[in-house]
Amino acid sequence: MRKAMNWDIPLFKIYWDKEDIEAVSDVIRKGMMWTAGPAVKKFEAMIADYVGTKYCVCFNSGTSALHAVLLAYDIGRGDEVIVPSFTFVSTCNAPLFVGAKPVFADIEEDTLGLDPEDVERNISKRTKAIIAVHYGGIPCKVEELREIAKEYGLLMVEDAAEAFGAEIRGRKVGTFGDAGVFSFCQNKIITTGEGGCAVTNSREIYNKFLLLRSHGRREDENYFSSNKSPEYIDLGYNFRMSEIVASLGISQIKKVGDIINKRRKMAEFFLKKLKEVDRVETILPPEDYFCVYQLFSVRVKEGKRDKLMEYLSKEKIMTKIYFKPVHLTYFYREKLGYRCSLPVTETVSNEILTLPFYPQIAREEVIRIVEGIKRFFVRG
Ligand SMILES: Cc1ncc(COP(=O)(O)O)c(C=O)c1O
Repeated sequence: MRKAMNWDIPLFKIYWDKEDIEAVSDVIRKGMMWTAGPAVKKFEAMIADYVGTKYCVCFNSGTSALHAVLLAYDIGRGDEVIVPSFTFVSTCNAPLFVGAKPVFADIEEDTLGLDPEDVERNISKRTKAIIAVHYGGIPCKVEELREIAKEYGLLMVEDAAEAFGAEIRGRKVGTFGDAGVFSFCQNKIITTGEGGCAVTNSREIYNKFLLLRSHGRREDENYFSSNKSPEYIDLGYNFRMSEIVASLGISQIKKVGDIINKRRKMAEFFLKKLKEVDRVETILPPEDYFCVYQLFSVRVKEGKRDKLMEYLSKEKIMTKIYFKPVHLTYFYREKLGYRCSLPVTETVSNEILTLPFYPQIAREEVIRIVEGIKRFFVRG
């Protein structure tokens, strides 16, 4: 493995405290039930309550949750699923996991989410679902997308991996579609290291999630503490979240309001400071969209993005490109043979730069980043 770089300002920092350590230690000290148990159930209830859905099922990652959603809704061979290319690769891989074809639609520039008009243009007789992504904590135009899904009778899935707690006029993302998915990977709004969940209001889909998560077995009692042999009634996976992870999740979700307030406060400061640099554009979603800033990304014009990145690296400030288009990855181009034209996605991907950002970022750090950007442009 290559050595980690020694950044003065890393891209993200995990927000954790003593309660997180205690939560994990408590499960370990019990010396039993480290696999799924009461903490998983409690974490699920807390998520459902926070997000505003009837049901939540935790998985071992957001990717497993996406996979389970498509399986639960019987998406499979011969089906097409519309996805953005401006996303993390697993959004697009999920249809492939179930034998369906991801079809790429372009994004729009207000939110960097799917462009409803381009989604509609890409609907064919085979289209079965849309997976909308809320990029970096910014809600996408999910209300318009949901209307299209309704009109064409499509499944609407929200990949809200990056947007736990984001809202549109008081309604949380993840609740607009048939099912929503969140990730608790280490750079997300709340984190359990690895982990994820799917939320829905459908009891039937909830029951399918439970079977898919744990080998297709009907678990009327906890598998490991019961002496009974349960029935295996369907094909399933081991997508389970452990008790240790769920306990950390419970401790993290208790802090979510505080985490989001801190992110929003510092994002406001960052946006204000960046007004001093006219060569860098910020993303400006509609005012009634409540963003949680999982990422803090800007657009760098005049083809200067890569040089700016290099310059900031020399100043030990980490930046990263979230995202390069999925349809241009080696796998999609060379192995799957994708050739598509997504002009907005490609322009945005050439300009986007994700700057360091975390709830506990100091004002001095933000100022240092902005001053670095200014110096770069002065030097040309
Ligand atoms: C948009 C998006 N979808 C899906 C995922 C997958 O989540 P996980 O890393 O928990 O599998 C991520 C996480 O990086 C993501 O950013």
